[in-house]
Amino acid sequence: MIKLTSSSLPAADDHTLPADEEVLSRLHAHPMSGWLGLPQSQVPELERMLREAERIRCAAQRLLVIGAGGSSLGARALISAFGKTDAGYPEAVFWGDNLSVVTARRILERLAGGDFHVILTSKTGSTLETLAAFRCVLPLLREKYGEHVAEHITVISEPDTRLHSFARESGAGFFEFPKNVGGRYSVLCPSGLLPAAVCGVDIRALLDGARAQAGRTDTALRFARERVGLFKRGFTNEILACFEPEFALFGDWWRQLFGESEGKNGGGAYPSCVTYTRDLHSVGQYIQDGVRNLYETFVLFEKAEGTDEIPQNTAFSDGLDTLNGKTLPQLNKIAADSVIEAHKAGGVPVLAVTLPDYSETSAGGFIMFMEIAAAASCFLVGVDPFDQPGVEEYKKRIKSGLK
Ligand code: PA5
Repeated sequence: MIKLTSSSLPAADDHTLPADEEVLSRLHAHPMSGWLGLPQSQVPELERMLREAERIRCAAQRLLVIGAGGSSLGARALISAFGKTDAGYPEAVFWGDNLSVVTARRILERLAGGDFHVILTSKTGSTLETLAAFRCVLPLLREKYGEHVAEHITVISEPDTRLHSFARESGAGFFEFPKNVGGRYSVLCPSGLLPAAVCGVDIRALLDGARAQAGRTDTALRFARERVGLFKRGFTNEILACFEPEFALFGDWWRQLFGESEGKNGGGAYPSCVTYTRDLHSVGQYIQDGVRNLYETFVLFEKAEGTDEIPQNTAFSDGLDTLNGKTLPQLNKIAADSVIEAHKAGGVPVLAVTLPDYSETSAGGFIMFMEIAAAASCFLVGVDPFDQPGVEEYKKRIKSGLK
C-alpha cells in the first residue's frame, strides 16, 4: 500500500474546495474514466497479449515502439524500471515522438542489423510524429521482410481508425486502445502493457498492484488536497524526486500526466523531475537556495533489495572508512533522509510517496495512485482532467505550415 507523508502544514480544511465524495462522484461519472477499470478489463486480453509478446520475443532482437506522449511514456518507464536485460529479451528502441533526422538516421542504422518488430501505438491513429516515423521505417521493413512485413508489425489503436483498418487489411497484429481511456491515463492498457511484456515486465503483478490501489482512493485524495493547498500558498512548481535512476523515467510519465491534466485556465503546478543523487550535483543548489516557489514530492521505497556490503577499496586509501560494512541501499537511504531534511530546512515543503518495495506490484499501485491524484487535483479546482485544448494551438500551426 502506498504511504503519504507531508512536511507542510496540514492542508487546512479549505471549504472552497469540493468534498472528497463530490470529487469521487465526478471522477466515476466522467466518460473518460475508463482507466479506473483497466486492471479488471484488461484481464481477458492478458493471455493473448502474453502470447503476442512471446511471438515478438522469439522473432526479434530489437523492439521498435513507435508512439508519442501517453502512447509511449508509460511503456518507456516500465521497461526502464523492470525490463529484463538478459539474452532472449529484445532491446527496446522508442521513436515517434520527435522529427529529428539525426534520431531517424541513428535508429535506422541500429535496426539495419538483426531482426526487429514494430509496435505502432496511437489512440487516434493520426499523430504526425508517429505516422512520420512509421513512414521512415517502412522501406527497411519491406527490404528485410518482403511480403511478410505484416508479421513484424503490431498495431495498438482505437477501433475504426486508419491504423485499425491497416492492421485488418494487412494482417498485422492488433490490440484495442479503449475509447474511454485518454493517452496519459493509458499505461495499463495495451500501449503500456504489450511493449512491457515483450521486455519481460511482469504485467500481471502490475495490474494486481493497480487493482489493489484503485480500492484505496483516500491517500491519493489527500495527496491531491496537499498539492492544491501548496499551489494556493504560492508553491507553483512541483518537483518529483527519485533516488532510483531506473525508476526515474516514471518522472517523464508523471510530468505528462499532471502537466497535461492540470495545466489549464492559468493554473496547475508546473511539473518537473529530478534524479538523485545525480541532480544534487546540478540543480540541487537551486532547490536548496533558489526562488521559494517550489515543493518536492519524493518517491521512496520502503524495502530495498541488496544486502551485499560495499567492497573495501584495496587499491588506495580513499579516506571513506565510514563506508566500511555498509550496503548501497543503506547509503541511498542516508542520502534520501539527509536531502529531505536539508530541503525542508531550506524552506521547501516536502511530500513523500512511499512504495512498499521495488517491484511491478508496487509500480502498479504507484501508477493508479498518481492517476487518481491527478484527476482528483483537477476536480478540486474545477478543470477537466481529460482534455488538452492547449495542445491544439501548436498543432493548428504545424498543419498550416505543412500546406
Ligand atoms: O495524453 C494524450 O492524450 C496525448 O499526450 C497523447 O497520448 C499523444 O498526443 C499521442 O496521441 P495518440 O496516441 O493519439 O497518437
